[in-house]
Amino acid sequence: MQNRKFKYSKFLLNKNYNFNRDYVLKYLPSKFLIDAYKSISKWKGYHPTPLLNLNKLKKDLKLNNIFYKDESKRFNLKSFKALGGAYAVEKIFKKKNKITVSSATAGNHGKSVAWGAKRLKLKCKIFVSQHVSKTRVDEIKKFGAEVIRVKGNYENSLRKCQILSKKNNWSIIQDVSTKNYRYVPQLTMAGYSILIREISEQTNQYITHIFLQAGVGGLAAGLVAGVAKYFKRIPKIIIVEPDRADCVLQSIKSKKLKKIKIKKESIMGGMSCNEMSLVPWQILKKATNCCVSVTDNNVARIVAKLKDKKFSKASIIGGECATPGIIALIGIWNDKKTRKLINLNQNSNVLVIGCEGNADVKLYKQLLSKGRK
Ligand SMILES: Cc1ncc(COP(=O)(O)O)c(C=O)c1O
Repeated sequence: MQNRKFKYSKFLLNKNYNFNRDYVLKYLPSKFLIDAYKSISKWKGYHPTPLLNLNKLKKDLKLNNIFYKDESKRFNLKSFKALGGAYAVEKIFKKKNKITVSSATAGNHGKSVAWGAKRLKLKCKIFVSQHVSKTRVDEIKKFGAEVIRVKGNYENSLRKCQILSKKNNWSIIQDVSTKNYRYVPQLTMAGYSILIREISEQTNQYITHIFLQAGVGGLAAGLVAGVAKYFKRIPKIIIVEPDRADCVLQSIKSKKLKKIKIKKESIMGGMSCNEMSLVPWQILKKATNCCVSVTDNNVARIVAKLKDKKFSKASIIGGECATPGIIALIGIWNDKKTRKLINLNQNSNVLVIGCEGNADVKLYKQLLSKGRK
């Protein structure tokens, strides 16, 4: 089996690990999570996304279960991000009424904001860097948003968004929190947390390990808050990042928020981030058991294996960011010492997050064809 060759890049145990439900819910309060579920579950077309079982892979790795939360089916937007930005737009709209919303994005978040704006008939301005593909831009435009291209990287696009939003009195809906900007990102994370609420009703097995992919950490922190609120037992929280953009691993290692230099962007574009968001840092610095980083090398292979039923009975459409949890799981499993260290064995019920489908159709086709070679 080819899986035997998979390796992870770096592994780090968090020396400050101390999971405390009250502490987590101090940074993302329970009332946010309750309101997010109440609101989103009323949206037209809402239904829980499937919780699949990678039963072929589980057999191969001799684990009890490997659950795969399939976010390719989320509101026709093909990613979990549908839950965050659109929910934040709704909340801010209810407070302010008649607004123009704006955001900077690597793709999926902006699509969610644009969709949320369209649902409420609001004007929407989305800022993207030169790295965001035309396919992703076209997806955002489909929802009627104006897309503004900015030279340089994500940070440049964010700066431009902030300057023009201030000038024009647009409401910024950003998923990244800083010292003076917490509420809107907290709303987006609360939106993500409903994944965990759904899972708590989709299986009665206790999850023992969760592999959470991270860019700025919003998804991971939102799901950790969901775990604190909805799960009876606390699983091991394993953060996975591209080795080219391991800002969570480096921050946990240095015990402080660390900005890193990205020399080359990862193919996992949504996770190619150089600095964590502040609220996720506050949550993840204690709730994370361990961090693991992976290369881009196996992304295409996993995309193809998911599609070609090598891991499960069903064919699964998983985009580039849906793969790192599986890559990290197999990589850790292949390293006996690390496998033992995190108690990965025949009793384990592992959860990986299939956070996106073919959100970038063109890239997905390329990866699929490369992975099949
Ligand atoms: C598909 C996908 N997965 C994962 C992530 C990472 O989420 P976060 O930046 O909240 O950690 C992103 C971020 O844009 C994404 O688009």
